[in-house]
Amino acid sequence: MAVHKAAITIIALICTFITVASSVPFIVLHGIGDKCSNSGVKHFTELLSDWSSSQGYCLEIGSGSWDSWTMPLLDQTAVVCEKVKSMPELSDGYSIVGLSQGNMIGRALIEFCDDAPPVKSFVSIGGPHAGTASIPFCGVTWICIMLDSMIKTEIYSDYMQEHLAPSGFLKIPTDIAGYMEGCRFLPKLNNELPVKNSTYKERFSSLENLVLIMFEHDTILIPKETSWFGYYPDGSFKTILPPQETKLYTEDWIGLRALDEAGKVKFVNVSGNHLQISHEDMKKHIVPYLSDKSSSSIITMAVSELPNLGNSVMNLIGPEMDQLQLVLRHVST
Ligand SMILES: *[C@@H]1O[C@H](CO)[C@@H](O)[C@H](O)[C@H]1NC(C)=O
Ligand SMILES: *[C@@H]1O[C@H](CO)[C@@H](O)[C@H](O)[C@H]1NC(C)=O
Repeated sequence: MAVHKAAITIIALICTFITVASSVPFIVLHGIGDKCSNSGVKHFTELLSDWSSSQGYCLEIGSGSWDSWTMPLLDQTAVVCEKVKSMPELSDGYSIVGLSQGNMIGRALIEFCDDAPPVKSFVSIGGPHAGTASIPFCGVTWICIMLDSMIKTEIYSDYMQEHLAPSGFLKIPTDIAGYMEGCRFLPKLNNELPVKNSTYKERFSSLENLVLIMFEHDTILIPKETSWFGYYPDGSFKTILPPQETKLYTEDWIGLRALDEAGKVKFVNVSGNHLQISHEDMKKHIVPYLSDKSSSSIITMAVSELPNLGNSVMNLIGPEMDQLQLVLRHVST
């Protein structure tokens, strides 16, 4: 009986070891008009899980596609914040993979979510971090052009801010006053307002890795450099400031500069249009930040301690041991 109990204790111990040793999970936040049950984002999450050996979870906000268009981004962030805190799988920390608008929610989750588990790596794929100067999600037909101009004149109104999610990061360089006054999301997220909140900077700069992937032929984000925090200077569409020349960087409003100077930011440029990332680029630029390199050594240690257990105990837990080895082999590949 006593031996049996010891065996159980040991199994419990080893299992604890495995939980501790298993790699950091990640969440995927999809783009506008998408939803977690769509095959594209589902497949994307599965591929990353397989290649990194880390568990990935696509987190849905409300109904998915419809709410991604219509729910204000601060509200979307609040939903994800509660979801993350309710998931025991994420309680020791996790990483974020953002797709397009999902990066706005991902970064807001890092900066705004109180009492949340730590975020290790943030991989941003085509994120409008410095804003976007157009809503070309629709196309170039006459109705889209009309819609676009209509949206632009009213974009900072309370109605738009409350009913059209991307209005939260539409930044018209020639209407900065309207943006600062009416836009409810990005000025706060980027600590652009006169009163800065140092908590946002503290949280964002505690990331271990920040990967900013820009698409060389992005026609959706205007300008595409926004994926790197580059943008038009206030008042003009004529030039594009590289990230290091923006005030957000030089005055370090959110800790981007601190992260960059610590060598924690990767500015990645891939070919393709918006979100058209190849498997090769996924393996090269995303997977390494989701695979936990330290996990394999801890697992090896757990395995090497197994022979030291008493023989009788080994016999008793024989069948469980096989399963354990299987799990270990699976985890360490
Ligand atoms: C800054 O943000 C944190 C986190 O959301 C909040 O708790 C705090 O009250 C804010 N501080 C100010 C001065 O607004
Ligand atoms: C991105 O890569 C292409 C070709 O690989 C290059 O021509 C372009 O200058 C790069 N852009 C930036 C901003 O580095």
